[in-house]
Amino acid sequence: MEPLFKGKHFITLEEWTKPEIDKLLEVSKQLKSDFLNNVPTPYLTNKTAFLMFFEQSTRTRNSMEAGLAHLGGHGVFLDTSNMQISHGESAKDTATILSSYGHGIACRNCFWGIGNKYLREMAANSSVPIMNLQDDLYHPMQGLADLMTIQEVFPDKKHVKVSIIWAYATSHKKPISVPLTQILLFPRYAMDVTLAYPLGYDLPDWAVEKAKKNAAENGGSFRITHDMEEAYRGADIVIPKNWGSWVNNQSTAVVDDLLQSYKGWKCTEEMIALANPDVKYMHALPADRGNEVVDSVIDGVHSIVYQEAENRLHTAKAVMAMTMGNK
Ligand code: CP
Repeated sequence: MEPLFKGKHFITLEEWTKPEIDKLLEVSKQLKSDFLNNVPTPYLTNKTAFLMFFEQSTRTRNSMEAGLAHLGGHGVFLDTSNMQISHGESAKDTATILSSYGHGIACRNCFWGIGNKYLREMAANSSVPIMNLQDDLYHPMQGLADLMTIQEVFPDKKHVKVSIIWAYATSHKKPISVPLTQILLFPRYAMDVTLAYPLGYDLPDWAVEKAKKNAAENGGSFRITHDMEEAYRGADIVIPKNWGSWVNNQSTAVVDDLLQSYKGWKCTEEMIALANPDVKYMHALPADRGNEVVDSVIDGVHSIVYQEAENRLHTAKAVMAMTMGNK
């Protein structure tokens, strides 16, 4: 396989054209088929990627590590609390040195106001592609897997109605990067996107303006509502998921009075019944079961969360195979 996008950073899908994203999806589908049929895919033989995590992960870490092994390469997991970063070593020095040891650097840094800047600083100083494993603004690996999953379940539908709906959770103060990535990406694929959230949980104004622009340029639509039930009504896909009030409140406290006033923002069977009869329930996971969603929905017939999570493997492999070529 030609590393068509050799050296290209993967920090936000906004910096990838639609034909480039389509190519990533085409390769993801081929890699999925090859994996399921035990066809060898040695596209990164003897290649190394460094996987830096400032935060916990299940899907992202393991899809990258397993994916590198499937491609014939090697992933080095780095808990940043055990790196000299914890003594203050700079992003510049870290990226310069790791890029001289291997062929790609991937990083998760979700600290509000810091994460994306950190990745940009690494990209400015790296001779190999920087891959964003989630920062404070973007989660492109998740967005790509979500898009692949939507195309699998609605292959022929022209204007898929997708509702991205804030949900109550107490597990941690989650980044805004998943819904922000989705509102930017889905309108580029002519989807009719509704963003629903209670007052106080805004996404940044610049992202909302860009989502509207992406919709206008690509035949999609984008609207905001603060009425949860309205967002469920008639939807083909619902994505009820918590995110933190970072835009309005930078405190790292997980639970506050504002959050507690929105316990009713939960995905229940009653909410699902408002949507189209064949509605699909998606969630990037981990889900805060019992708070964001009831078990009977996430474990029910409408749920495609495991297909969505599986596609993280195939899309991660496509990104790595296409960006990490010979040095
Ligand atoms: N969806 C997602 O990024 O999962 P992890 O936090 O487990 O990597």
